[in-house]
Amino acid sequence: MGWHSLLPGLLLCLPLATGWTTSKCLLTEGSQLPLVSRYFSLCPVSQVSFLATCLSVTNLTQTLAAVPRTIEGLCLSGSVSSLPPDAFSAFPRLKFLGLNLHLTQLLPGALRGLGQLQKLSFVDHPLKKNPLFLPPEAFADLISLQRLYISGPCLNKKAGIRLPRSLQWLAIKNGCLQDVGELAGMFPDLVQGSSSRDPWTLHMLDLSFSQGLTMASPGSLQGLQLETLNLDRTRLEAAKVKALGLQKLDILSAQLTAMAELPAEAVAHFKLQELNVGSNKIRNISQEALASCRSLKILNLPSTGLSKLPPGLLAAMPRLQRLNLAGNQVQSPTLCMNETRDVSGLMTLNLASNGLRVLPPGTFSCLPHLRELLLQDNQLLSLEGQIFQNLQQLETLNLDKNPLLNLGKNWLTALPALTTLSLLDTQISLSPDPGFWGAETLHTLKLNLPSLPAPAVLSLPMYLTSLELHAASGLKHWKLSPNVFPFLENLTIGGRGLRLEVQNASEVFPALRQLSLLQNSLEAFCSQDTSNIFLWQLPKLQSLKIWGAGSHSRPCLITGLPSLQLLKLESLQSITQPRAVQLEELVGELPQLQALQLSNTGLKSLSATAFQRLASLRVLALYTEKDLVLHDSLREYSPQMPKYIYILHSPLACQCANAWVEPWVKQSTLTYIQILGPQLCPAEAGEPAKHSLFSFLWSHCPQTLELKLFLASSALVFLLIALPLFQEARNSWIPYLKALFRLWLQGRRGQGNEGKRFLFDVFVSHCRQDQGWVIEELLSALEGLLPAGLGLHLCLPDRDFEPGKDVVDNVVDSMVSSRVILCVLSGQALCDPRCRLELHLATSLLLAAPFPPRLLLAFLEPISRHQLPGYHRLARLLRRGDYCLWPEEDERKDGFWAWLRSKLGAARLGVGWHM
Ligand SMILES: *[C@@H]1O[C@H](CO)[C@@H](O)[C@H](O)[C@H]1NC(C)=O
Ligand SMILES: *[C@@H]1O[C@H](CO)[C@@H](O)[C@H](O)[C@H]1NC(C)=O
Ligand SMILES: *[C@@H]1O[C@H](CO)[C@@H](O)[C@H](O)[C@H]1NC(C)=O
Ligand SMILES: *[C@@H]1O[C@H](CO)[C@@H](O)[C@H](O)[C@H]1NC(C)=O
Ligand SMILES: *[C@@H]1O[C@H](CO)[C@@H](O)[C@H](O)[C@H]1NC(C)=O
Repeated sequence: MGWHSLLPGLLLCLPLATGWTTSKCLLTEGSQLPLVSRYFSLCPVSQVSFLATCLSVTNLTQTLAAVPRTIEGLCLSGSVSSLPPDAFSAFPRLKFLGLNLHLTQLLPGALRGLGQLQKLSFVDHPLKKNPLFLPPEAFADLISLQRLYISGPCLNKKAGIRLPRSLQWLAIKNGCLQDVGELAGMFPDLVQGSSSRDPWTLHMLDLSFSQGLTMASPGSLQGLQLETLNLDRTRLEAAKVKALGLQKLDILSAQLTAMAELPAEAVAHFKLQELNVGSNKIRNISQEALASCRSLKILNLPSTGLSKLPPGLLAAMPRLQRLNLAGNQVQSPTLCMNETRDVSGLMTLNLASNGLRVLPPGTFSCLPHLRELLLQDNQLLSLEGQIFQNLQQLETLNLDKNPLLNLGKNWLTALPALTTLSLLDTQISLSPDPGFWGAETLHTLKLNLPSLPAPAVLSLPMYLTSLELHAASGLKHWKLSPNVFPFLENLTIGGRGLRLEVQNASEVFPALRQLSLLQNSLEAFCSQDTSNIFLWQLPKLQSLKIWGAGSHSRPCLITGLPSLQLLKLESLQSITQPRAVQLEELVGELPQLQALQLSNTGLKSLSATAFQRLASLRVLALYTEKDLVLHDSLREYSPQMPKYIYILHSPLACQCANAWVEPWVKQSTLTYIQILGPQLCPAEAGEPAKHSLFSFLWSHCPQTLELKLFLASSALVFLLIALPLFQEARNSWIPYLKALFRLWLQGRRGQGNEGKRFLFDVFVSHCRQDQGWVIEELLSALEGLLPAGLGLHLCLPDRDFEPGKDVVDNVVDSMVSSRVILCVLSGQALCDPRCRLELHLATSLLLAAPFPPRLLLAFLEPISRHQLPGYHRLARLLRRGDYCLWPEEDERKDGFWAWLRSKLGAARLGVGWHM
C-alpha cells in the first residue's frame, strides 16, 4: 500500500484510542467460525457475518464497550445477575444473542432496540435451577424473533410473558417444568383463550431434558398448532400428549424416556408423520399398536431392544419412507414377507449394529424404492449374489465394520444407481475385475486396504469424485489403477504407512480440491532429500488437512500449492521426541492461503519470514502450542499481518523476546489479536507459575530491552498515541492534523525527487533545558570546520526558524528540509510539549515521506520506561542502533561521537555534496 493512501486512512482511525483487541471477547467472521468454533458453542451460527463471544463477563457495560457495534452475533458467559434497560441497544444489527450469565432478571426494556434479532437463548447450569424473572413485555421489541431457547433457568409459572408473533421455535429445557400445562401460564399467547385470534403455530416446542416433567394437564395447550414436540429425556409418557388439546402435531420425539410401548394412540390421534422413540425399552411391537401407525412417514426405533420385527411391519405403514432400526438385536430382518406383493415405498433403511450374520435372499425384495441402505457394524461375512436384486434405485450402501471377506465377481451389478459405497473396517479383498465396482455411477468410495496379502495394484473405479482410503501400518507401495482419476475432487488418506506410488500427483489427480491426510505419516508425501517439501504439487488444491502425522524428523514444508485457501495442521508432534518448529518450516509459498490453523505442531516461533510468503492470509488460529515466541520482526511487518490472529490455549514463553507483544496487541488496529487461556510465569526458576506473563516480563526484562522497545514499536499506532499527548499539551488536535497534512503534502511534492537538495544537514530537536549541551558539545562537533568538526549545517529551532511563522509550519518545513533529524532526549525534554511535538512529527515524517530523513536519538541520561509515558510505542521504522546514550565519563565520549559520525555518514552526508 502506498503511504499516500495509508495516511488518510490513519487519520480516519484516529478517534480509536487503542487496538481493537478486547481482553475478554473473541471476534470472528461467520465464514471463519469453524476455525474457532469451540469458543462459540453457545452461538454456533455461521450465517451471520460478524460475531463476538465474551467469556467471564462480570461487568456488562465494561465488556460491551469494547465490542464493535456492527456485530450480528453475540454470546456472553460469566455472571451478571440482571440485564439493565437498553443493555444491547448499541448493537442494532444483532441477529443472534446467547446469554450464559446466571441471570436472575431482565429489567423492562433490557432487549430494546433489537428489532433484527432472530435467535435468543438464555442458558444456565442445568442442575442449579436458578429462577429467571422475565417481565411480560420483555420480548415486545423483538419483532423478528424466530427462536427462543431457555435452557437451565426456571421461569415463573404465572409469568405471563408475551411472545412475538414471528416466533417459530420455543425451547424450555433443563428447567423446573413439571407439567406441560405450566407453559400456558408462562406464555399465555400459546393457548387459545380470551383473544379470538388465529391459533398459534410453532415449528418446534422443545421441552427436552426437563427431568421433572411428568404431567400433561388435559386441555392445557388448547388450540396450539405444533409441527414438532420434543420430549426427549423427560419422564412424561408420550401417550399423555394426546390429551393436551393440541390442534395439530406432525412430529413427536420422545427418546430416552420411560416409555415401554409404542405410543400408538397418540400416533393415531394426531395422524403423526414422524415418531422418534429411540433408546426406550420397547422390546416388542404388538399388532394393535402397529395398526395405529398408518400415517407414519418416518419411524425411528434405534436402541429399543427389539429382537423380532412384527410381521407385516411395512404393510402396516404404507407411507413409510425412513425406518431406523439401528442398535437392536434384529438378527433376521423379516421385512419382506412375500417377495412380490406388499411393495413398500421405503427409501432409507438403517439396520446398523444389529448383529446381523446372514441376509437371506429376498430380504430387501419388497423395497424397490430404497435409496439408502445402512448395514454397518454387523457380523456379515459374505453377501449372496441375489441379495441386492430389485434395489434398482439404491444410491448409498454402507457396509463398514463387517468382517466381509469374499464378494462375488459382479456383486454390485444388481445396483445400477449406486453412487456411494462405504467399506471401511472390512476384510474385503479387492478384485481387479472390471465389474467388481459395479456401474460407472459410483462416485464416492470409502475403503480400507487389507493388510494381507498386499497386492501391488490398487484398482479403483475411474470416475470417482470422492475417495477415502485407510490402511494399517507396514504396507508396501501401492500402484494405482487406472493411473488417472480425472474427476476426483476429495481425497482422504488415513492410516500410517499407506504409500501410493504416485510420481506426479497433478497428473494422477488433476481435479483434486480437498486433501485430508489423517493419522498418516506425512513422510510418505514428502521429499526425502534435505529440502523436505510436500511433494503433491496440486494446482487446484483448495483445502489441505493434515492430522496426526507425528514424526521425529524435520517437519514437511507445505509449499507451492497455488490455489490452497485452507490449511489445517494438527498433532504433528512426535510424543516421545517433541521438536521445536518455526512457522517457516511448516508453511512456504502459499499465495492464496486465507486460513491457517495449527494445533499441537510443536510450533515455537513466529516471525515475519513466514508471513511474507502468505500474502493472502486473513486468519491464523493457534491452539495448544506451547512456549511460543513471537519474533519482533512481526512488528515491522504488522501492516501486512493477517487480519485475525488467535492464540488460544497456547502460552507464550516467559522470555524477554516476548516483551514487545503486549503493547503491540493493545495497539494494533489493523490486526485483531486474541490471546486466550492462562499465561503464567514462575517468579523464580523452579517455583510454580503464578505471575501473569506480561507483568512478569515487565518486571524481569532489563532496561536495554526497554530501550529497544522504545525504539521499535508500531508506527501506525504511534499516530493514535500522539493524539492524547497533544491534548495534554493544551493544543487541540487540529494543529496536529494540520501538521500531518502538511507533512503529507510535503511528502507528495518530494515524491520521485530523490536528488533534491536539502537546506540543512541535521535538524536538532531539543528542549530549552538541554540547550547548553547542544551549544557546547554538539554544535562545535558538528558545525565546526574539518578536521575537528564535521562542517555540517544544523538547524536549531531558536536560531534558524523563520520569525513570525507558525511553530508547526516552522517545525514541519525545517524537518522536511533536513537530511537527518536528531532528537536530544532527557527527562526534561520528555516533559516539554514542544519536544514531544517535534519527536512525533519526526516519526510521522518517517512514515509519510517517500525519502524520509533519518531519525537519530541521543539520550543525555538513561531513561526508563516509567519516564516514557506512551513513548515506548514510538517509531518502528527506527533501525536498531539509531540511538545512543551520552556517557558521563569523558573517556567514553569518543564512542558517542564515533557513533554519531558513522550514522551521519550512513545518511550519505559527504563533505563534498552540501551547499
Ligand atoms: C462497570 O463498568 C463501568 C465502566 O467501566 C462502571 O462505570 C460501572 O460502575 C461498573 N459497574 C459495576 C457494577 O461494577
Ligand atoms: C411380544 O408380544 C406378543 C404379543 O403381542 C407376545 O406374544 C410375545 O411374547 C411378546 N414378546 C416379548 C419378547 O415380550
Ligand atoms: C404371502 O402371500 C400368500 C399369498 O400369495 C399368503 O397366503 C400369505 O399369507 C402371505 N404371507 C404373509 C406373511 O403375508
Ligand atoms: C468434497 O467435500 C466437501 C466437504 O467435505 C463437500 O462439500 C463436497 O461436496 C465434496 N465433493 C464431492 C465431489 O464429493
Ligand atoms: C506433472 O504433470 C504436470 C501436468 O502434466 C506437468 O505440467 C508437470 O511438469 C509435471 N511435473 C513433474 C515434476 O513431472
